[in-house]
Amino acid sequence: MPARPTAPVPARRAAELRALLHHHAHRYYVLDAPEIPDAEYDRLFRELQALEEAHPALRTPDSPTQRVLGRVLEGLAPVRHAVPMLSIHTETDTTAAGATAFDARVRRELALAADAPPVEYAAELKFDGLAINLRYEAGVLVLAATRGDGETGEDVTQNIRTIGQIPLRLDTAHPPPVLEVRGEVYMRRDAFERLNERQRDKGERTYINPRNTAAGAVRQLDPAMTASRPLSFFAYGLGEVQGWHGPPTHAAVLDALAAFGLPVSADRRVVPGAAGLVAFHRDIELRRDALPFDIDGVVYKVNALALQCQLGFKTREPRWAVAHKYPAQEQVTRLNGIEVQVGRTGKLTPVAKLEPVFVGGTTVSNATLHNVFELRRKGVRVGDRVIVRRAGDVIPEVVGRVADAGGADGAEGAEGAAGAAGVDGANRRRRRYVPNFHMPRHCPVCGSDVQREKGGIDHRCTGGLFCAAQRKQALLHFAGRRAMDIEGLGDKLVDQLVDAGIIRTLPELYKLGVAKLAALERMADRSAANLVAALERSKQTTLARFLYALGIRHVGEATAKDLARHFGALDRVMAASEEQLLQVNDVGPVVAASIHAFFAQPNNREVVEQLRAAGVHWPEQQGPGGGSSGEPAALPLAGKTLVLTGTLPTLSRDEAKELIEAAGAKVAGSVSKKTNWVVAGEEAGSKLDKARELGVPVLDEAGLRALLAAASGLAAASGAG
Ligand code: IVH
Repeated sequence: MPARPTAPVPARRAAELRALLHHHAHRYYVLDAPEIPDAEYDRLFRELQALEEAHPALRTPDSPTQRVLGRVLEGLAPVRHAVPMLSIHTETDTTAAGATAFDARVRRELALAADAPPVEYAAELKFDGLAINLRYEAGVLVLAATRGDGETGEDVTQNIRTIGQIPLRLDTAHPPPVLEVRGEVYMRRDAFERLNERQRDKGERTYINPRNTAAGAVRQLDPAMTASRPLSFFAYGLGEVQGWHGPPTHAAVLDALAAFGLPVSADRRVVPGAAGLVAFHRDIELRRDALPFDIDGVVYKVNALALQCQLGFKTREPRWAVAHKYPAQEQVTRLNGIEVQVGRTGKLTPVAKLEPVFVGGTTVSNATLHNVFELRRKGVRVGDRVIVRRAGDVIPEVVGRVADAGGADGAEGAEGAAGAAGVDGANRRRRRYVPNFHMPRHCPVCGSDVQREKGGIDHRCTGGLFCAAQRKQALLHFAGRRAMDIEGLGDKLVDQLVDAGIIRTLPELYKLGVAKLAALERMADRSAANLVAALERSKQTTLARFLYALGIRHVGEATAKDLARHFGALDRVMAASEEQLLQVNDVGPVVAASIHAFFAQPNNREVVEQLRAAGVHWPEQQGPGGGSSGEPAALPLAGKTLVLTGTLPTLSRDEAKELIEAAGAKVAGSVSKKTNWVVAGEEAGSKLDKARELGVPVLDEAGLRALLAAASGLAAASGAG
């Protein structure tokens, strides 16, 4: 027996659990690389909770159980910053000149000769959120404060503790007595979109932008409210420091903070001189839309801390740093009108007609308003000044209206377009709202009645394929890459074909000849011939693609595949009762009803027959299928599971998957005892090892083709290579 440890067992276990939970929280929230499943984390968490419950003395302020304390605050207490939180000079020239001007200023102020070597800079992102000071004493987070006026901020410790990315304790054996970390709390775009999606579902007001939402969440009085908003954090600097002899450059300080377990953005670089700054600015500008969060520019800092000291401060701004902006992603403009667009399934969408405005790198004159109820919630009227947002690859949106002049709403100060315009984090109604836009009762395209869906928020044109707008969308969907894949049939051509009355139904597509096409405006003989060839090629397809291409409501790609796998033949899908449809994987009552209703329509059956008559075909499973037992139908490989790994010589991953699924088998992501075959190509990795370990048969591409051919007897796979 080893010697008994000195600490009593519960105390030792609590400390062990705290350390484990800190470690795994860091892996999960900061590194995005968890080592244990969530359930295991929860188990450790509950164990610690129970221990602390039984021994309250073991509860330390840095315990992971102490993040959310369900106490509602009376107000946010003022906090005087030990070291003022300065602002930063902003270079508003968004061209390269902004960077060169800063470098020239630094060189002048350092009195560097023209031929002196370039100054080294730390270049980083300018996060668009809320500045926060985190105070760690002996490694434990004791205080978090907003910037406020720079001298005095607000105590938001309880709220900040709810942010999983922020360590409650620094990951070091020798923490400095005092270390203040400065950085930005922000909200990722996907988290923001999800939050707004939920608000829409609940019929509640939507938030304007991630920045204001994050700022609002941090300044909540109820920490539980903050905890419900998914916030993130990046550290970018220091405040007061005692007893820490950190590294001599800014970049190395950030490395040290990352080693302490703080999130530090990887999108930073140490660059030489003006040329380095310009290259960084340009590089980030190209990648801006692809970042998972909003930035409004980049920040350049003189890298050597000794030089920072030498440069010093100018009233409230350091001389050693500058923010270099990008064109704004939000702008204010006038809402000139609202048009109604009709989609493929007849859904009417109000579209804002805007006074053209340059935002997020392009000129925007149309923006979605989603639906009429959202418009009402935002209190937007034609003629209003509105905020238009275009960030990332998200389509431009009207996110709110500008508060009336003199309104007392501009709580967020002067950062960002929305703040400057006096609009706060959410869309609140300020005075009695009388809408001046109403959804039309008749479809603006075809004149058919418009129906409001029962209980739903959507309005729909009832014209079906009689409606030219729906016909156009139906054709585009039919031709889409994941449907019939008719290359060259884009929206311009579809507009022409429908507007000229050449095409009224889907099957008429296959009657298009080169002569008829070449007669169209802007259509060269060559493109006409290409399109006819593409149409010809599209005739050979799969049942799943065909079902998807028909554009049945609620039948997406995955459902179409499930239907094809289950029934194996089109006639069996068309003849299926709702009850039989419900047997299909993932098909619920709404989807079953929609499929049944679609094929009950004589028009739709006619369309299907004409398409088949035009030569559209796919391999079908012979004999009876569509088991009522819930078992997949008797497709050749029904019930089998394959796993793909590595690169096959001729088939792409998608092509192989499609062939396998067309034969009724499933493609899984990982190998288990239930896997029937593993198909391995060049550079196959751990999945191949796993297959060998478990004794799962391994095929190469030729083996796969042989399997498919033998299984189906149709040899459908043999022609593909
Ligand atoms: S450094 C003394 N670095 O921009 C310099 N600020 O006034 C202090 N910001 O609201 C600021 N990203 O919160 C710095 N990488 C970054 C930043 C950054 C965003 C914010 C900061 C403040 C404003 C600067």
